[in-house]
Amino acid sequence: MFRSLYSKLSAVMLMLFIGVGILVVQVVLYATDMYRQEVSQKLNRELAANLVKEKLLIQDSKIRHEDLKHIFHMLMVINPSIELYLLDPEGNILTYSAAPGKVKRERVSLGPVKTWLSGDVTMPLLGDDPRHPQRKKVFSAARIQQQDRLEGYLYVILGGEEYDSVAQKIQESFILRMSTWIIIAGLCLASVSGLIFFALLTRRLKRLDASMRAFKSGKSLASVDFPLGHGQALPGDEVDHLSQTFREMAGRIEQQIEELQNNDLLRRELVANVSHDLRTPLATLTAYLETMQLKEADLSADERRKYVQVARNHCLRLSSLVNDLFELARLDAEENKLNLEPFNIAELVQDVVQNYELTAKEKDITLTSNIGQGLSFVQGDIGLIERILENLIMNALRHTPKGGTVSIILSPADEYINVQVLDTGDGIPEQELPHIFDRFYKISTSESPPVSFTGLGLAIAKRIMDLHGSDIEVESELNSGTCFTFRLPVYTPN
Ligand SMILES: Nc1ncnc2c1ncn2[C@@H]1O[C@H](COP(=O)(O)OP(=O)(O)O)[C@@H](O)[C@H]1O
Ligand SMILES: [Mg+2]
Repeated sequence: MFRSLYSKLSAVMLMLFIGVGILVVQVVLYATDMYRQEVSQKLNRELAANLVKEKLLIQDSKIRHEDLKHIFHMLMVINPSIELYLLDPEGNILTYSAAPGKVKRERVSLGPVKTWLSGDVTMPLLGDDPRHPQRKKVFSAARIQQQDRLEGYLYVILGGEEYDSVAQKIQESFILRMSTWIIIAGLCLASVSGLIFFALLTRRLKRLDASMRAFKSGKSLASVDFPLGHGQALPGDEVDHLSQTFREMAGRIEQQIEELQNNDLLRRELVANVSHDLRTPLATLTAYLETMQLKEADLSADERRKYVQVARNHCLRLSSLVNDLFELARLDAEENKLNLEPFNIAELVQDVVQNYELTAKEKDITLTSNIGQGLSFVQGDIGLIERILENLIMNALRHTPKGGTVSIILSPADEYINVQVLDTGDGIPEQELPHIFDRFYKISTSESPPVSFTGLGLAIAKRIMDLHGSDIEVESELNSGTCFTFRLPVYTPN
């Protein structure tokens, strides 16, 4: 029954309202009753004193029945709810105006009477009602004295209507009836507004709950509607925050799932590529070795040398593939584990260039380095940066025809140093450019591919720059040349 937040809130509110309603009615009834008594007592403050002044009621300890009767009669006519009692100095009831048999007490406690006579009274002041063993009522009282001798007291009960029940009391009074109806109407109005208000407030929670369930059951974030506070900008209330937080969380979950799926796809592709690239050289290698084994006697020395050469080339290819794969795996695993240090990039470039001078000469290619003046230290992992330079220079030398040029240019740019490897080679077709950094991506050419190229060199370079928080870019024009650029932060000692 009370499963939803709305029903719980509503039940609590209704219970509170009913409680408050009962309390208010009780307070109103009590207050009006007290007020009525107070007014009655104030109006009749001097009543007893005036009556005593009018007639001497006890003379020489004897009650003057004639005078008393007269007064009783007079009061009966004016106000029948008033009752007179004649008390002796101890408070015992001597005689009274009420009908015989109705009086249930023989004496009245004198405490309230004396307080009344002292004049220092907070009204309403209640005294014993002789007609009821426990009940108390407002009264007026006066001393009866004869030459300073106390003969007794005149005790006047200022009666009021007595009701059997609260309902009857309300029923009989127009004002109370009105007030009760106004209170009930006010509470009903407040309850209805409260219910509507709660419904409006909890509606968004309900929608959020529905959205969360929908997402949980597999719906995509884009197709789930979130109750974000009427489209206004944050900060909204807690529901808006909750909704926003959940949306962000759901976004991250989706992103991570997507990454996992992509990784899985990449891993599968990698395994497929690796197996393919391993299988071809291995199969060729096996085939050549078997032929040599079978036809050992029939082969000429020249043929044998050629066979061994082919087998060796495939071995080299396998070896570089395994090396590259191993390097890439290490770079993938070594997230955030760079050995960053300041080093002189100009010196590094010169060293690497020196290593490739012989190869360049053999291919009749001019290999130059253009190192600007006063280039400072950069921050990076020197071993890995050397590896990028080697990969780029090897690629450039491979793709540049005889008589071409390969140059390495260093140029400062703000807080960075740009490193460019430029060649005057065959260039890369535009449609291939977005893919050349992919793992195992090789551009197929008409001539059979040289055995030791794996399609991993640029992937390794890109991964190294990723680890440095930087990027590597390429510009190329077919048949005119290619330029690879990456940048390193200048080292600033602090
Ligand atoms: N300087 C260059 N000029 C022309 N093409 C290039 C150059 N550098 C790289 N490429 C192309 O990009 C491809 C990917 O390069 P890389 O990842 O180093 O693999 P690999 O060198 O093993 O073929 C190469 O197959 C080649 O076609
Ligand atoms: Mg390469």
